[in-house]
Amino acid sequence: MKSLRLLTASKYIAGFNCLADCGTDHGKLPIYCVKNNLVKKAYASDNKEKPLNNAKKNILDNNVQNSVIPVFADGLTYLTEEVDVVSILGMGGRLIESILEEADLKNVKRLILIANSENEILRTFLQKIYWKIIAEELIHENRKNYQLIVLEKGQMQLTSLEKEFGPFIIKEKSTQFISMITKQINGLKTAVKHAKNEDVKQDLNIRISELEEIIT
Ligand SMILES: C[S@@+](CC[C@H](N)C(=O)[O-])C[C@H]1O[C@@H](n2cnc3c(N)ncnc32)[C@H](O)[C@@H]1O
Repeated sequence: MKSLRLLTASKYIAGFNCLADCGTDHGKLPIYCVKNNLVKKAYASDNKEKPLNNAKKNILDNNVQNSVIPVFADGLTYLTEEVDVVSILGMGGRLIESILEEADLKNVKRLILIANSENEILRTFLQKIYWKIIAEELIHENRKNYQLIVLEKGQMQLTSLEKEFGPFIIKEKSTQFISMITKQINGLKTAVKHAKNEDVKQDLNIRISELEEIIT
């Protein structure tokens, strides 16, 4: 599997019993996890026919039809008791929130999430429903940065910057993270130069100070 996003996610799935991968598209993640004995069984679900057909074809091509089950479903409404780990990768944070809100997560022990956007909204929601971040990684793929969030049940109390960038990601201060934040700071500094309104300038400078603080 070539995707660094999916490979990194698979590390946190290893050792569980049954995976439900929601929004599976090609089905690469559940197929990889089963083929490499990271889990015994997996559900590969999508709410659109075309991606699910891609997954079905890949399941057959990889000869894992006995242990990777394609499911046509909106969200995670199909969860069975055996599913102990859930992945939702490559959707917006609000959509992931609405999928988790409707799902029965009673038997799920771990969530693996990558939101393409709206990470702050997603982490705010996860804190509210008593899921605790146990690991995070900032992954650079196809010239974009993705925040991988791994959670188990529990309590957490995040600041607004931690909700936006992730407590573990901020703490790690990887070169990738520092470069991402530095780019944002430089963009804001340019905006300050061009801003005519003093209030706007002040807000921009506050944001610059906050960002400078998390990379020092
Ligand atoms: C950008 S792809 C991500 C594919 C894969 N998870 C990855 O990260 O490489 C998003 C997939 O989520 C599916 N999707 C969007 N909304 C969904 C929902 N409510 N329930 C299930 N699947 C959904 C889309 O059809 C699409 O195949």
